[in-house]
Amino acid sequence: MEHLPEQYRQLFPTLQTHMMLASCSQSALAEPVSRAIQDYHDSLLHRGTNWKEAIEKTESARNEFTKLIGAEPDEVAIVPSVSDALVSVASALSVFRKKHVVYTEMDFPAVSHVWQAQCDYHVSVIPSIDGVIPLEQYETHISEETVLTCVPHVHYRDGYVQDIKAIAEISQRKGSLLFVDAYQSAGHIPIDVKEWGVDILAAGTRKYLLGIPGVAFLYVRKELADALKPKASAWFGRENGFDGAYAKDARRFQTGTPAFISVYAAAAALSLLNHIGVSHIRNHVKTICADACQYAAAKGLQLASAQGGVQPGMVAIRDERASETAELLKKKKVICAPRDEVIRLAPHFYNTKEEMRHAIDEIAAKMIDK
Ligand SMILES: Cc1ncc(COP(=O)(O)O)c(C=O)c1O
Repeated sequence: MEHLPEQYRQLFPTLQTHMMLASCSQSALAEPVSRAIQDYHDSLLHRGTNWKEAIEKTESARNEFTKLIGAEPDEVAIVPSVSDALVSVASALSVFRKKHVVYTEMDFPAVSHVWQAQCDYHVSVIPSIDGVIPLEQYETHISEETVLTCVPHVHYRDGYVQDIKAIAEISQRKGSLLFVDAYQSAGHIPIDVKEWGVDILAAGTRKYLLGIPGVAFLYVRKELADALKPKASAWFGRENGFDGAYAKDARRFQTGTPAFISVYAAAAALSLLNHIGVSHIRNHVKTICADACQYAAAKGLQLASAQGGVQPGMVAIRDERASETAELLKKKKVICAPRDEVIRLAPHFYNTKEEMRHAIDEIAAKMIDK
């Protein structure tokens, strides 16, 4: 399992000086991604027009993402962010008569912000119980009146991994569509939208997908996309640019010109991830996180994630002064991600067990100093 970092670390110049353990927020920049960003810049600086090339890159990014989640290219829209993806989805549900939406306490706050702004819908929030959401909660809260159930694949605060296939079965049985926020899983946990029965899924590119902000992907199951008429849709969502008809597929969820510089980055980043294989990445990340959890517990640190379920791909450590600790670690060139009262160590395929242990040593030392 240790061979992944050995094979790929040289692609990430930052790793020569920093321990990059914040993939749940922003991953390290790989050289091929950096070159793609430079290429976009150079196309403007030296080659004049680049529209055709940029459109080709957009298709290439789309294709790479479809490979990553087991979808077809016409089932994926390119949108600016996960929040925008959900706004587009919310704008498309009026074709259904049902007005009840469910989301969970583990969803990223943007999900609740989007639904709070939709006055036409009433919402139920599924609580988490001791750091998990038992499937019975979905049985209880999703009803025949539910038009859409929103769930995160992975909890952004502690890495808790949900069984999406089991949730999809419940949601489908009750007649609700399922929206999966895969921003915290795409790139390090394998996803299969067909096998799991997912209707809609979104993920942005700056976390485990090795990209930069500006682009997200929205998967909408083919038959479903054709039935929906998003109000948040514009010329990139049309059959033929200036033509008024909706695109026949998930592209109808697109609005304006994508952030091409981020598209170039995404195409290169996703190609690298697909080349390595997400199941290999999952095995590696899982192994070093399991080791780090044991190591942190042995040091007396308190883990924020529920123990005993599926191994999370991050190690979340309780710390009342998480931001202060993260700043201190940053001075020592250890980059981690604080969130509320938790420090998240979120490794990727380029990180080692030793880096995780080193970060934990630093956190433990800081705690003792308090
Ligand atoms: C799980 C999850 N969903 C959504 C978001 C928000 O994504 P965006 O800024 O692309 O809307 C984040 C951002 O950190 C996240 O972690």
